[in-house]
Amino acid sequence: MSLLMTDDVFKQLRDFIYERSGIFIPDNKKYFLENRLGRRVQEKNLKGYEDYLYILKYGSDKNELNIMFNLVTTNETFFFREPQQFDVFAGELFNRIVAENAKTGRKDIKIWSAACSTGEEPYTIAMILMEKLEAGALKKEIYASDISESVLNSAKSGVYGSYAIRNVPEVYLKKYFNGANQQYTISNSVKSITKFMKINLIEDRDVKAVRGVDVIFCRNVLIYFDDRAKQKAVANLYDALRPNGYLFVGTSESLHNVTRAFRPIVINKVIVYQKV
Ligand SMILES: C[S@@+](CC[C@H](N)C(=O)[O-])C[C@H]1O[C@@H](n2cnc3c(N)ncnc32)[C@H](O)[C@@H]1O
Repeated sequence: MSLLMTDDVFKQLRDFIYERSGIFIPDNKKYFLENRLGRRVQEKNLKGYEDYLYILKYGSDKNELNIMFNLVTTNETFFFREPQQFDVFAGELFNRIVAENAKTGRKDIKIWSAACSTGEEPYTIAMILMEKLEAGALKKEIYASDISESVLNSAKSGVYGSYAIRNVPEVYLKKYFNGANQQYTISNSVKSITKFMKINLIEDRDVKAVRGVDVIFCRNVLIYFDDRAKQKAVANLYDALRPNGYLFVGTSESLHNVTRAFRPIVINKVIVYQKV
């Protein structure tokens, strides 16, 4: 049975989580925090959530904040999720980047998966780039980041079950994965171009580690933020992009009313936001 939380502590706890992560938990979702944090409070032998909040705020062990982020984030993801966006990336956007590089003499391509969870999204991007003949001469860098350390550790190990790989085309499975029997390990060639980092999207300091990227995938994370946090995160993404760079959000998400710093363009029915 989960531990009950008073309304007052709920408000304090959810405000704290919001300030630190942008994740907004509405008034009617107290049960969500009880479900996600109850066991942790018991594991630590605390009297209740108030003591847990105190530890988060004033405790000397900063790792508790990481543990809390791991518990409250939703990490659902899989390879080749929302494939229409990858088609646009691999087709029109890739061609535009190659043409731009030919003009400027740049010899690299940088992509950022900005809330990468357990790694399926950045590894999908890496495989797609490795399949492009024209990318052969380009230095390929995939940045992959998340606020949660536990998903990043899982991403770095690169081991997946049959659910995660269910949409991976057979040729990719043969070429870029090792193993079988419900366990598939991403190959070192894919890992070697993927750099994992811990980045909180609402922290300017964290996001400064990424600059000059051609395309950002920031999918299925802004849905957990309110408008103010979305604006903060999107402004940070803007700064990380090179001029005219592109941003994908999830197909069910929109930046309408969030920013005017990006121009929505439609390619094959897919909306891509271009930095203006
Ligand atoms: C549902 S997953 C999306 C994974 C992938 N982008 C996709 O679309 O399949 C959302 C991820 O956002 C991360 N996240 C939540 N708040 C964040 C923040 N403030 N900064 C960075 N990542 C955050 C979570 O830890 C989680 O792994």
